[in-house]
Amino acid sequence: YGTSAVNEDGHLEIGGVDTLQLVEKFGTPVYVYDVALIRERARGFKETFERMGITAQVAYASKAFSTIAMVQLANEEGLSLDVVSGGELYTAIAANFPMERIHFHGNNKSKEELEMAIEYNIGCIVVDNFYELGLLQELCEKKQVKMKILLRVTPGIEAHTHDYILTGQEDSKFGFDLQNGQAEEALLKGMDSSYLEVLGLHCHIGSQIFDTTGFVLAAQKIIERLDEWKKRHQFTTKVLNLGGGFGIRYTSEDQPIQPSEYVEVIIKEVQNKAAQYNMEMPEIWIEPGRSLVGDAGTTLYKIGSRKNVPNVRNYLAIDGGMSDNIRPSLYQAKYEAVLANKPLQKADEVVSIAGKCCESGDMLIWDLPLPKTNDEDILAVFCTGAYGYSMANNYNRIPRPPVVFVENQKATLVVKRESYEDLIKLDLPLKETVTLKN
Ligand code: LLP
Repeated sequence: YGTSAVNEDGHLEIGGVDTLQLVEKFGTPVYVYDVALIRERARGFKETFERMGITAQVAYASKAFSTIAMVQLANEEGLSLDVVSGGELYTAIAANFPMERIHFHGNNKSKEELEMAIEYNIGCIVVDNFYELGLLQELCEKKQVKMKILLRVTPGIEAHTHDYILTGQEDSKFGFDLQNGQAEEALLKGMDSSYLEVLGLHCHIGSQIFDTTGFVLAAQKIIERLDEWKKRHQFTTKVLNLGGGFGIRYTSEDQPIQPSEYVEVIIKEVQNKAAQYNMEMPEIWIEPGRSLVGDAGTTLYKIGSRKNVPNVRNYLAIDGGMSDNIRPSLYQAKYEAVLANKPLQKADEVVSIAGKCCESGDMLIWDLPLPKTNDEDILAVFCTGAYGYSMANNYNRIPRPPVVFVENQKATLVVKRESYEDLIKLDLPLKETVTLKN
């Protein structure tokens, strides 16, 4: 995985740093990110567009992992940024991210969030529904500003992934339906407003997708519509945003293509279709989250208790679980792991890795072959970089682990470990009563 390797001491190292030294310095659990790999992925996407002569924006979907340092890294690599809440926008502001490269998503942005986006004059708002279209128009009129928008459409594509992370199908909470006239109605409303500039269309068909068919179909359907709208309404799109969702390899069961290959397929399809309809080639924007940071992240845990259910299973518990990685319990997501202090030692038993939360469903990995362990051992779970820290929670009042960036044999703490004081800092004692009625 990435720049992970086994060093002279027989320990797992990441970015040239011994994972056992990381554990000694930062404790467990800890999220470790291989920064070189994130840079490599970002460059892979950007270079593909450049090589094929396409004007593009590669927007990092910060929901995958949003922290100040990560947003700064995205900026260093010349990425744009997709935010989906006031909180993610606030993080970008705190990281000094260039506002003109921020795209704001979400199916229920609040008035306050839209006002914040307008105040900071962000690059564009991806409008999801009629309520938002009306609200945004009103707010921009009040402020007398013009906001660039994309319209999010649902092209009616079913990508093959987990139901919860499917988004492009017709029966979805996201976007304007492309088939039934809603998207066209939204376009007309947008074109009609002096306070909105419709840059183009956006769609996102799902996440952890291995197949390019869905992207190709989505591009086809959208361009067919755009051709109609050009004839009917003289609308020419500047931008076609095809979202994120490029799948990564979590285990040997997964066989994704290279991230840049998705982009190549998308570009070729848009070029073909644009030529077919004699349409000017739009800018192509994408929004990868997982494929930029997923396999760059590794979580290190300490092994603790063990329970043997004779002839059934060996449970081995680690000092984290669904509070730092909810994906196995939420999506039955699978991961691979090794013992960081002896990654090459051959397995002599099969264990199931249990989290420490009070839930039977808090299981991280079922049936993992491992060498015999003792409680000094460190488990390294790979590919936890996307939707790990960002979906972490304080269930059972477990503090969230710190985040460490490693690169060129150096380690940098970029998020501190949460403390018990942090956990209770918003709590108020019973006596702080507020009377709401006179
Ligand atoms: N753009 C939009 C509009 C999205 O909704 C998403 C993800 C992305 C881009 C980035 O998708 P990615 O490249 O990361 O697949 N929590 C789930 C994934 C939810 C994805 C939600 N939207 C998981 O842990 O698998």
